[in-house]
Amino acid sequence: MIVTMRRRSFLTVTGLLAAAALTGCGGAEGNAGTLAFRNPLRVPPLLDPAPGPDGVRRFALELRRGRTEFLPGKPAATWGVNGDYLGPTLRARRGDRVAVAVTNTLGEPTTLHWHGMRLPAKMDGGPHQTIQPGATWRPEWTVEQPAATTWYHPHPHGLTARHVYRGLAGMFLLDDDHDTALPRTYGVDDVPLIIQDKKIAADGSLDEDFGGTFGMLGDQVLVNGTYDPHLRVTTTRVRFRVLNASNAHVFHLGFADDRAYHVVATDAGLVDRPVPVRRIRVSPGERFEIVVGFRPGERVVLKGFGGDDEIDSGDYDILELRAATRLTPSAGLPGTLTDLAPPAAGGRVRTFRLGGSNVNHQNMDMTRVDEVVPAGAHEVWELDNVTFDHNFHIHEARFRVLDVDGRPPEEYQRGPKDTVFVPGHALVRVAVEFGRYVDPATPYMYHCHILRHEDNGMMGQYVIVEPGTEDSVPRSAPTTGHGHGH
Ligand code: C2O
Ligand code: CU
Ligand code: CU
Repeated sequence: MIVTMRRRSFLTVTGLLAAAALTGCGGAEGNAGTLAFRNPLRVPPLLDPAPGPDGVRRFALELRRGRTEFLPGKPAATWGVNGDYLGPTLRARRGDRVAVAVTNTLGEPTTLHWHGMRLPAKMDGGPHQTIQPGATWRPEWTVEQPAATTWYHPHPHGLTARHVYRGLAGMFLLDDDHDTALPRTYGVDDVPLIIQDKKIAADGSLDEDFGGTFGMLGDQVLVNGTYDPHLRVTTTRVRFRVLNASNAHVFHLGFADDRAYHVVATDAGLVDRPVPVRRIRVSPGERFEIVVGFRPGERVVLKGFGGDDEIDSGDYDILELRAATRLTPSAGLPGTLTDLAPPAAGGRVRTFRLGGSNVNHQNMDMTRVDEVVPAGAHEVWELDNVTFDHNFHIHEARFRVLDVDGRPPEEYQRGPKDTVFVPGHALVRVAVEFGRYVDPATPYMYHCHILRHEDNGMMGQYVIVEPGTEDSVPRSAPTTGHGHGH
């Protein structure tokens, strides 16, 4: 079992988690933290289509049911995108026009949200853009943001935990002229690491246990859907795009030999200059791009380490890196990665009280618009957590963490972000830069990315409007009529 609890003051939570721990160890091959690294890491296929004659890059995604052998010979019922589990990696460049055809053959409604992508609300794939069974949804937008590791996953209200856990998630990489100095050969020295914890039953099936304070807390960790994985390394430096696509667990990542590595990007793009680290904390929905150096012939294990959060995953192995005896030399890390200004703090302050599974004492209501934001606004959002661990994600925004309980964040947490960990009983302030796609009738979401909390209603809706029209905007949102394209 990989749940650890350090903060003794949270007696109720501790009790609930202890109960979950007792019943949660059903996996016949529970790794108890140690792996043998038997299986080559799966790398999601890359979709990098050439633009059509109209200049548009077109992607086709099918959300479908499948079967996956996490444990050899014991297939599990899973969901996937163009495959049995997880989905392909999409790639585009700043300035590209992209169009996606998303076909739902799951047999039940869902949505597909572009987490971290800057786009109009109707294209966002949140709970209002339902894709009915058998339907195809066709969002289209222009990539106008800096290089970043974004990702996609379903967002149907109340069902996100299930749909993501069953396997619907993938990456959407955005390149620009700033990240060309970093390793960028997909699958060779630019490798996605989609980290997810699971409960795998003795018969190989996925155990869907979404109860408890934090919902699903698994005792097995998969990378890119691979159980017990290793990766062969062939270059002296590798850029890993780390995504925590778990329902709830927080990971503190580092290496068994405690080597230093560099953070080169956070959720919303490159950091100013590479930040040396040994451990990084990654909460659900967050991304970090890291660059790791390797010596010929060595083997080193990427691990999760116990931290002092309530929903830490504890100590266990994640992935073994096996360096070839001869490595292709990589270019040196650039001293400066970007000269883009970080999000600036604006004058308006909004406060969000994070309760057990509510925001400002209210549960998500699809028909209620909670906040109205003028296009292009810079604001300070105060996330005042009065309960246990949460995190917070804002759609169509880029933010910078100003402070955590009055103290500046660790240096590697200072880059541009869209999701932030909010420890229990902490106050986190972020400087938010909002988008410019005006649509008073279609809301964007902000929410806790612990999926049980989100499903339980720890989510609010905001619209972006023409500056000066804030007071004339209706505070109700239509719940149907969006995105049912066929
Ligand atoms: Cu990753 Cu609103 O979601
Ligand atoms: Cu999002
Ligand atoms: Cu939460």
